[in-house]
Amino acid sequence: MIVEYKKKRFRIKRYPETGNRSLRAWNAADEFLLDIVADENLAPRKMLIVNDRFGFLSTLLHDKEPLSVLSYHSQEQAHILNQTENKAPVDESLWLNPLDRWPENIEMGLIKIPKSMDLFRFYLHKISQSLAADGVVYAAFMTRFFTPQMVTIAKEYFEYVEQTKAWKKSRVMAMSKKKALPQRDFVHQVKTENGIVLHNYPGVFASRTVDTASRLLLDHLQIPENTQRVLDLASGNGVMAATILKRLPEAEMNLLDDFSLAMESSKLTVDGKNCRFHYNDNMDGFAPDYFDLIVSNPPFHFEYETNIEISLNLFKGASRCLKATGLFQVVANRHLNYKTHLVKLFSDVTVVAGDDKFVVYVCRQPIPMG
Ligand SMILES: C[S@@+](CC[C@H](N)C(=O)[O-])C[C@H]1O[C@@H](n2cnc3c(N)ncnc32)[C@H](O)[C@@H]1O
Repeated sequence: MIVEYKKKRFRIKRYPETGNRSLRAWNAADEFLLDIVADENLAPRKMLIVNDRFGFLSTLLHDKEPLSVLSYHSQEQAHILNQTENKAPVDESLWLNPLDRWPENIEMGLIKIPKSMDLFRFYLHKISQSLAADGVVYAAFMTRFFTPQMVTIAKEYFEYVEQTKAWKKSRVMAMSKKKALPQRDFVHQVKTENGIVLHNYPGVFASRTVDTASRLLLDHLQIPENTQRVLDLASGNGVMAATILKRLPEAEMNLLDDFSLAMESSKLTVDGKNCRFHYNDNMDGFAPDYFDLIVSNPPFHFEYETNIEISLNLFKGASRCLKATGLFQVVANRHLNYKTHLVKLFSDVTVVAGDDKFVVYVCRQPIPMG
């Protein structure tokens, strides 16, 4: 998609690409933020951008050298793609991890409000920690996603919180005069029935209770004989890996997730001696025919979008990396009808459990790819 900004044309793409033409690389809330900062003359590294999913803001504003908080592996790839494509320098020294200590004296924070309010609070906490006393934060959202909690959270951190009028169905909340930072512990712990303590940073899937679908898969888990190498694909807080490790303490356990706060949560949850953590959005880094067992409760939502393409790509990876004798077990919403996709990748796909909402598939005999 092409956008014109300050008489220059930029082509901004999604990563990974999508065949769904209704999914866009930015929306009016991003444009609103752009408009607000258009005439600001800030020194380099004094602007901090948070939750810029595909790098729209950091690419168009690159001459201001903003710092950017990147929380997803796929978000890093999108930044590289769009900055390269638009001849903006890819400067990784401007990237911040959500758990790093962010630089001080930031003058302006720009945030696209995430769907998770816990994550919004966490980001605001971190921004406010880094903000100069007279700094300002602009938080943008599409009006249909507004919840009063956004204002409540903003007021925990700032004396002045004002909303603009709506523009193209988006709005911006301006926050200034930061308050003293409240004391908070952002890691939420959940104890499972079998005594595992799950650790969850904000925004991690099922951070308050074990997800019903994950539980269904674990209740019907099949473990092939002599299993040595296991992958928890889209591992979140590590609930599946931790449960399997109770039964297979000697196995090599691999966990892969695209969300850095999920990855860091799982490192706190799972402490097996043979665990390997892969912060990635695909399985390209694994050798073919490697795993005896792959389990997954794969994503089909991101924020407010529904998109099964991510899962289908992970299924291809699972088929390539599963041993001929291995098992791939997936749980998913019944209505997604994943069987039609799985049978193209595995010769034997069986439904082993289900309820009115979810189905557990066991896939055997990966079909070699041409
Ligand atoms: C439905 S949750 C399941 C989490 C965990 N396995 C559980 O059962 O609670 C899906 C997970 O997929 C992750 N995810 C999203 N896109 C991904 C991708 N491209 N590659 C790997 N993980 C991804 C999300 O961060 C999330 O943690």
